[in-house]
Amino acid sequence: MGWNFYLVAFFNTVKYGKYVGTDVIPKVIQKSKAIAHFFSGDDKETSFYLLPSERLDKTYSFGEKYANYFDVIFFSPPYFSLEIYPGENQSTINFPEYEDWLRGYWEETIRLCSKCIKRSGILGYVCGDYKDEKWNLVSFTDDLKRIALKYFDLETEMEIMWNGVKTTSAARKKIRKSRKFISFPNKGVKRYLSSPNFFIL
Ligand SMILES: C[S@@+](CC[C@H](N)C(=O)[O-])C[C@H]1O[C@@H](n2cnc3c(N)ncnc32)[C@H](O)[C@@H]1O
Repeated sequence: MGWNFYLVAFFNTVKYGKYVGTDVIPKVIQKSKAIAHFFSGDDKETSFYLLPSERLDKTYSFGEKYANYFDVIFFSPPYFSLEIYPGENQSTINFPEYEDWLRGYWEETIRLCSKCIKRSGILGYVCGDYKDEKWNLVSFTDDLKRIALKYFDLETEMEIMWNGVKTTSAARKKIRKSRKFISFPNKGVKRYLSSPNFFIL
């Protein structure tokens, strides 16, 4: 859910009317609700789920409820073991092994996204490669993309650079300062993009 900056952006759009967010940290959801309350008006609706994204479908028939519904799905996924977050339902607690995590968390989440996105919709997420405890490079970007490409086509990969990324045990794990924003349309759908404009803070 991107810790609510997407939510603030949503409230500043004219085009979009409904926002649905999910996270597994109770405080994130509480804050989302507080922000939504602050901005609330007649023309925008929000719903928040305190549940792992990979369980939304089984628990709430999310895929049927929101079939072909969303114009945009954006997220900043957990980076497996690089960043450790609070909460008993973190993806790394439910799937401590990387291959299980890719299948159980990532592929299930992407599969659900493919059910819920409109034919003309766009999926986008931010990710980057990093080094694990043994200093091996985890090809995280390619691993996530390989699975996303089972369900979507590739549209753009944009480099994002920044400094001062805080990570858990930063001395042992090195994240590259470069990450990518990757976007995916539905399979076989051609979208005609004008040049993207950037405002970087
Ligand atoms: C990379 S962080 C997002 C925040 C990020 N630093 C940002 O500002 O974009 C990943 C988020 O995914 C959440 N998360 C972890 N496992 C999840 C799951 N199975 N379903 C949904 N969200 C999950 C974490 O609680 C965390 O808030």
